[in-house]
Amino acid sequence: MLLLILILAISQSALAFRKSMRHREPCKHLQLYYHDILFNGTDAANATSAMVANQIDQLGDFHFGMLVVFDDPVTADNHLLSPPVARAQGFYFYNKKDGYNAWFAFTLVFNSSQHKGTINIMGADLMAEKSRDFSVVGGTGDFFMTRGIVTIQTDTFEGDFYFRLKMDIKLYECY
Ligand SMILES: *[C@@H]1O[C@H](CO)[C@@H](O)[C@H](O)[C@H]1NC(C)=O
Ligand SMILES: *[C@@H]1O[C@H](CO)[C@@H](O)[C@H](O)[C@H]1NC(C)=O
Ligand SMILES: *[C@@H]1O[C@H](CO)[C@@H](O)[C@H](O)[C@H]1NC(C)=O
Repeated sequence: MLLLILILAISQSALAFRKSMRHREPCKHLQLYYHDILFNGTDAANATSAMVANQIDQLGDFHFGMLVVFDDPVTADNHLLSPPVARAQGFYFYNKKDGYNAWFAFTLVFNSSQHKGTINIMGADLMAEKSRDFSVVGGTGDFFMTRGIVTIQTDTFEGDFYFRLKMDIKLYECY
């Protein structure tokens, strides 16, 4: 009998926790812009990312297999030349034969008077969708053990060599 009550009590509190998760507001909300300037073979001083593995031409027209490593500036507004508030360090690769689709894994590195620490982000960039979601899988420093969602939108792009993402970062676990 006691065991039954215990089990009931535990399942009730688990249910309550799940419910409260569903209606929770973010504990921290950041809106930032990610700028990717792909190395074109001559602009070494300006470029912030580089292709390190080639696409496989036989597998369609959407860069399948191309891997890009980046150390990109992240700004508070959508101007490339605004002072960066963080760096985005990581990689993406294209992984769809019949459309543009990439997979991202990167760390936002903050080192300013406002924020010190990192936010670790990963997810599929389903480019056909206007707005996509990445997962915040962890963090350090000011963002210790954080989790959340990053909603991204392509803010602009210029061919293959520059694109900008608007990142709406909602953290649901803050310590
Ligand atoms: C690379 O980009 C720079 C700066 O945007 C431009 O001046 C240069 O002509 C480009 N090089 C190639 C090979 O497209
Ligand atoms: C962070 O900023 C401080 C002060 O500007 C600097 O000394 C330090 O090297 C920076 N750390 C990193 C990882 O960039
Ligand atoms: C750096 O790259 C950006 C994005 O492609 C471009 O708008 C800008 O003109 C480039 N700057 C230089 C100095 O090449």
